[in-house]
Amino acid sequence: MPFKEEELKKAYLIYRQFKDHNPLSYHERYIFPFFAGSYFAYRKIDVLRIVEIARSISNKPTYVDVGCGYGDFLKKIREFIPDAIGIEKEISIFYIFQKPRPEYIYSTAIEWYATKTFDVAFVGWMDPGVDFREFVARTAKCIITTFDSGGQCGVNGACEYDEFGFKRMAWWRTPSWIDVNNELMNKFYTPALKTDEKKKQELSKIRTAHNFWYIYTRPEILDKANIALKSWLDKEEEVFVTERFGFESVLDECGFRYMEELSAILSKYRRLWEVIFD
Ligand SMILES: C[S@@+](CC[C@H](N)C(=O)[O-])C[C@H]1O[C@@H](n2cnc3c(N)ncnc32)[C@H](O)[C@@H]1O
Repeated sequence: MPFKEEELKKAYLIYRQFKDHNPLSYHERYIFPFFAGSYFAYRKIDVLRIVEIARSISNKPTYVDVGCGYGDFLKKIREFIPDAIGIEKEISIFYIFQKPRPEYIYSTAIEWYATKTFDVAFVGWMDPGVDFREFVARTAKCIITTFDSGGQCGVNGACEYDEFGFKRMAWWRTPSWIDVNNELMNKFYTPALKTDEKKKQELSKIRTAHNFWYIYTRPEILDKANIALKSWLDKEEEVFVTERFGFESVLDECGFRYMEELSAILSKYRRLWEVIFD
């Protein structure tokens, strides 16, 4: 369900108190994702994958982030697609906390915006109980969505776009903010575990990663998007050596490394960031 203003204000107060204690770098992103990060953990390669797909659709792709919140991920996309925009239904989040609203984030709901068309629509974590997929589907040629495998998305966990005439082209798995948060809590914020290395090691073996990225396209653009992503992946490992955001250090430190295989994942696809083509 969408947030309630009072709850958000309480959370913001706790966030400010946390910041007053000079927390370790980047921890706030994974403890207060709405204020300081995003609900899904990402690396620069996630951004670059999406940019490659978008550029395969058009030389000057149009891009919308639906329900972008404060626009953390959108800002990263705009480094490569400068005209990318976001739409956010609850624009009051900017006014309540006196944060300036970037001019590229529009105050509207996708239901009112669906007459426009975009090459790519990105949906990062549709709230549980909310379902605006039909409107996103009317808007875009390609839909990239992230959601939590625990079903914390949409109505009854429905986050997919097959029923709207889209084909899933590929998917990959990354941690959600909750997965990273669990590791941070065990490593840094649980006094009983501070000196208990054995326990910490045991707990780290059960870590998992619940966030999925699904790439959907309309059938007519599937082939070119597919070729673009595949040819990007041929060079990704090499690019990854130098292209990272600072906050990726927390993911590495918590054991969510690029291509890390997590034994606790109950699927044959256990490697983080490994792209699986349909
Ligand atoms: C769970 S938050 C995710 C925020 C951000 N995408 C992220 O992953 O960090 C979902 C956001 O979608 C917005 N939202 C909900 N319904 C919407 C709609 N119909 N149109 C546009 N935004 C909407 C909410 O206000 C909220 O900011």
